Amino acid sequence: MRPATPQFNNVRTFYERPLLDRWTGRYTAEWENADGVHRKTVHNRLRDFEGNAPSLHSLLRLPRILRTYLASRRRPILAHPVPFLVLDAVLFLDEILEPGMRVLEVGGGNSTLWFLERGAQVTTIEHSPEWAREIERYATDKLGAEAAARLDLHVCEGVDAIERIERLGSGTRNLALIDCKNAHTWRRDCVAAARPKLRSRGWMVLDNSDHPNNWSSVELMSDLERVRFTGFAPMCPVVTQTSFWQVKGSSVGVLASPLAA
Ligand SMILES: C[S@@+](CC[C@H](N)C(=O)[O-])C[C@H]1O[C@@H](n2cnc3c(N)ncnc32)[C@H](O)[C@@H]1O
Repeated sequence: MRPATPQFNNVRTFYERPLLDRWTGRYTAEWENADGVHRKTVHNRLRDFEGNAPSLHSLLRLPRILRTYLASRRRPILAHPVPFLVLDAVLFLDEILEPGMRVLEVGGGNSTLWFLERGAQVTTIEHSPEWAREIERYATDKLGAEAAARLDLHVCEGVDAIERIERLGSGTRNLALIDCKNAHTWRRDCVAAARPKLRSRGWMVLDNSDHPNNWSSVELMSDLERVRFTGFAPMCPVVTQTSFWQVKGSSVGVLASPLAA
C-alpha cells in the first residue's frame, strides 16, 4: 500500500548499505507527516517509486542513456540537447509540441534548448545563475539570435519563482514543464501556480512524478486523466517517471494560489 503523502518537501533519501546499494540502486526514502514517520525502499534500477517497470523502449536504449550520462559529465549541455525526461515522454512531447507554442518551464537545461529548436516561445524559471548563463550562451552561440530571442529566462527561486509564475497571463501557455529542484522551489507550488496559466487543452508535465516529494503535486492534478511514462531518461541510468495531464477547459480558479495561505 502507498504510504501517506508528505505534506511538505521533507523526504530524505539514503542508502542503507552505502557501498553495495549505490551500485544496485536500492535506496530508501523516509519522511514525516501528521501520521508519523514513513519509509519506502525501492530498487531504482528496476522499478520506479510506484513499483512500475521501465518501458521496453527505454530499456533498449540503455547504451544511449549511458553514453549521454558520460557525455554530460564532460559537457553538461549535450551536443544535441534532449530533455532530461523519460525517453518515452520525450517522444510524446515531440508529438504534442508545435512551433509557436508557448511553454513555461521551471527548471531549465537541455529541455530549454530542445523547446527552442522546435520553434517554441519559452519562459524559463531557473534558480542557478551559472546554469542560466550556460543555457543563454548555448541558445545564442548554437541556435542563433532568432531562437535566443524566443527565450524569456528568469533567475529566481522559492516565493520569487512562484510570484513570477503568478504574474503570467491566465490561460496563455500551451505547456508547463515542472522540473525544478524541490530544495529551491517546491514543485507542488509550481503546479498550483502554473495550472491556471494553461490554455484549454494545454498540458501540465511533471518529471519524477513517482517520487514521494512530488506525490502532492500529482494529487493536485488528480481530477484529470494522467498519461504516465516510466523508464530511463537521458543521462540518468535509474528508473523514473514523467507524467502529463491535458486540461479540458480553462483552469482559472481551479486551484487556490500557493501564496494565498
Ligand atoms: C532536473 S534539472 C532540470 C532539467 C531540465 N528541465 C532538462 O530537462 O534538461 C533541475 C535543475 O538542475 C540543475 N542542473 C541540471 N543539469 C545541470 C548541470 N549539468 N549542471 C549544473 N546544474 C544542472 C539546474 O539548476 C536545473 O534547474
